Amino acid sequence: MRVAIIGQGYVGLTIAVGAAGAGYEVIGFEVNDQLVTALNAGTSHIEGISDTSLSSFVGRGAYKASTDPSVINGCDVIVIAVPTPLDDARNPNLSYVHAAADLIAKNAKSPALVINESTSYPGTLRKEIAARISGVSHHYESSPERVDPGNTQWGTKNTPRLIGGLTPEAVARAKDFYATFCDTIIEVSSPEVAEAAKIFENTFRQVNIALVNEFAQIADALGIPGREVLDAAATKPYGFMEFNPGPGVGGHCIPVDPSYLAHVANEVGVPATFIKRANEVNLAMPAYVVKRVIAGSGGSIKGKKVVVVGVSYKSNVADTRETPAAAVIDLLRAEGATVTWHDDLVGSWLGESSAPIMGAEIAVLVTKHDGLDLVAVKGCSYVFDCTGTIAGADGI
Ligand SMILES: NC(=O)c1ccc[n+]([C@@H]2O[C@H](COP(=O)([O-])OP(=O)(O)OC[C@H]3O[C@@H](n4cnc5c(N)ncnc54)[C@H](O)[C@@H]3O)[C@@H](O)[C@H]2O)c1
Repeated sequence: MRVAIIGQGYVGLTIAVGAAGAGYEVIGFEVNDQLVTALNAGTSHIEGISDTSLSSFVGRGAYKASTDPSVINGCDVIVIAVPTPLDDARNPNLSYVHAAADLIAKNAKSPALVINESTSYPGTLRKEIAARISGVSHHYESSPERVDPGNTQWGTKNTPRLIGGLTPEAVARAKDFYATFCDTIIEVSSPEVAEAAKIFENTFRQVNIALVNEFAQIADALGIPGREVLDAAATKPYGFMEFNPGPGVGGHCIPVDPSYLAHVANEVGVPATFIKRANEVNLAMPAYVVKRVIAGSGGSIKGKKVVVVGVSYKSNVADTRETPAAAVIDLLRAEGATVTWHDDLVGSWLGESSAPIMGAEIAVLVTKHDGLDLVAVKGCSYVFDCTGTIAGADGI
């Protein structure tokens, strides 16, 4: 069986390797030609996929990346794994999904199982993908990806997979496909249920993170150690789930997906007030961090050397998409500080390179990767810790 995967980013490459490992012949269609060259040379850009494993799939012909759209013709399964960002007005931007659907319409001449793994609002598979494709009787199924980059406990194999199809045959074929590399498959009654479940999962995280971010501010103002309170609350064996405060939310999912739900909610006349408020709280966290840094540094950071430590959006990944570190840096610079950043995993970002920690007067620890030189961080005259790592330091 031949499988085409449209988009070779975090999600697409992860599924590609899963399917190649299960014995499929996998073609990764990708518009970025430099990425295609690197993948065909066995160089992975995803933390969870080693060059060794990718090279072995490439070497034995189980995986090939391509910029040629005609490669999807004749494939039994076509998986869409393209970006679903927000536009400037924070509304869903489905242009990549539409482009993928149009690509299938133009190139896939024989019936295939078309799966959407991209995260989007309920109705996307039916109205934004299937409705754009005519002439060939494909089967359509939605299986929103739940991968958590960098998570060593939960991966493609052992994270339960939701599937919802437009027809019983689509569901049956999707079950057969995923059963070869996923342990648990959960069939739901429609693609809309699967799509809505995925964005509700991320909305649940977004709202709870906003809640602890607000609580962290309340606790600090009351002079109570907020993280100790949260740890204490987490000793309750039922009815409580611990979330950690931080400098905001980042990545391709938590800051973005809830706005997809808010968008369709507004269309049907339901104001998504929790989502709106959670966005406001999380987006205001960088300003709160900088306010606290100024207060902790004697009322001004003008002319001071500040290093922002960890600029990716979470620990042990190099992904800087939507990272709150960007706003923290901008706001520190707006206050007149001389700001550098340090992140061994990111290396270079927005035209700047990772700088040493040593030599800075102030360190703002935004994201902590394993192996971080904490001695160097603690060597700065003032440390503000957004991660709860350094006992006794100011922070959230
Ligand atoms: N990254 C995650 O942790 C994660 C987790 C679960 C779900 N998702 C969702 O999965 C989807 C993909 O996310 P990602 O993180 O893999 O994105 P990504 O940006 O890492 O990768 C997407 C890839 O698609 C390519 N692309 C764009 N348009 C294309 C087209 N028309 N044809 C072929 N390739 C095209 C891009 O060049 C890019 O390499 C999104 O909807 C996202 O919300 C992401």
